[in-house]
Amino acid sequence: MALLLDTRLLLRKVKDLRCFTPRRNRVKKKWAATPTKHPPTGLALQHFDATYSSQLGKLWPSVRVALLSEGKYGALLNNFSDDSALAHLEAQGCRDFLTDTETEESEVAAVEESSNVSMKESGIDGQQETPLQLSRNIKCFVFPRADITRFKSARPDTYGLLGYYLMDAASVLPCLALDVQEGHAVLDLCAAPGGKTLALLQSQSIRFLCVNDASVSRMLRLKKVLRSYVPKELLTGERLRISSFDGTKWGEIETNTFDRVLVDVPCTTDRHSLMENDNSIFNKIRGGERRRLPQLQLELLLAGIIAACPGGEILYSTCTLSQIQNMSVVEQAIDMARENHGIQLQVVDLRPLTHMFRKTFHFAPDLHLGEMVIPHLAANFGPIYMCKLRRLT
Ligand SMILES: C[S@@+](CC[C@H](N)C(=O)[O-])C[C@H]1O[C@@H](n2cnc3c(N)ncnc32)[C@H](O)[C@@H]1O
Repeated sequence: MALLLDTRLLLRKVKDLRCFTPRRNRVKKKWAATPTKHPPTGLALQHFDATYSSQLGKLWPSVRVALLSEGKYGALLNNFSDDSALAHLEAQGCRDFLTDTETEESEVAAVEESSNVSMKESGIDGQQETPLQLSRNIKCFVFPRADITRFKSARPDTYGLLGYYLMDAASVLPCLALDVQEGHAVLDLCAAPGGKTLALLQSQSIRFLCVNDASVSRMLRLKKVLRSYVPKELLTGERLRISSFDGTKWGEIETNTFDRVLVDVPCTTDRHSLMENDNSIFNKIRGGERRRLPQLQLELLLAGIIAACPGGEILYSTCTLSQIQNMSVVEQAIDMARENHGIQLQVVDLRPLTHMFRKTFHFAPDLHLGEMVIPHLAANFGPIYMCKLRRLT
């Protein structure tokens, strides 16, 4: 009898407690438990299957498996931090993919020579081959091929700065390809959350860096990254300018100014879209935004071209495999720069760079414009597309 009474009391208490739960929360819980019929990740996969199976042909099944598996990271070494991170990374058994190319460097000259011939064959007008000049200060550590060990998070050093930044190692390539030289003025047009900005700063040769992104919230993340990795004295003063403008309007602010411009545009972020439902560009309510991406990318690239000085160089990059967001955007930008702004551009050949790092990354074969890292299970980096343009006028 006593047990029965206790049970009734307990049940009443539970009922009373339910009364304290606001109704909206109870309803929310019920809704949240109902799975979405068409999650954005599923829609992304459908879309990629439809477009990439014809675009990539027999490569698509293996790229697809890699994209659906966990991606691999690289640890961008922070030169502003003390030496402890370097020792820590080396002890973990990873290597700097930028300096570990001795055996390959001897072959670069041969590739440069042969690329002249194949360029003529490819029929790309004005594609220019340049000597390979890599910043010796940028270092990015990766685990060996097929080793999927994860990096531990970086810890603050004695100055409170973090020793390395974890990012897709292929994202370092656009920064290398930009080829920043001593004394250059550089614009990073779509910079947040700041991985590539940080890589550019590691080169330690920039005279003036302008960092911009239209998203105020993402800019807050970028500022936090800079505070965590770069000494205060370098973040103040006239060498760094941080802004949050619509990059498509940059030409209204500044033209013919920068030696180097990085245009790392918003895109369908293929790997992220297959893995995450939150904040996905394949969410149905973002359909219009997704369809407008190529136009936005074109406007951003054109703005970057106009912001560069004659003789200056522009690096366009995305993290999608999409031909419409990659090559088509670059082709249209070259035409529009000539027709609407009288700017002549030359495509810079990046094959010496891709050849140098072919043991670390898988590159798409035979792209007629630019270069692309394609995901592969043994080297699951990318996708990263990049195309470099030089202003002739
Ligand atoms: C691929 S992300 C850039 C990633 C960044 N470069 C990095 O390495 O961390 C593209 C960025 O473009 C920004 N963006 C979108 N529209 C823009 C616009 N009209 N002007 C400038 N930035 C824009 C987004 O806020 C986003 O942060």
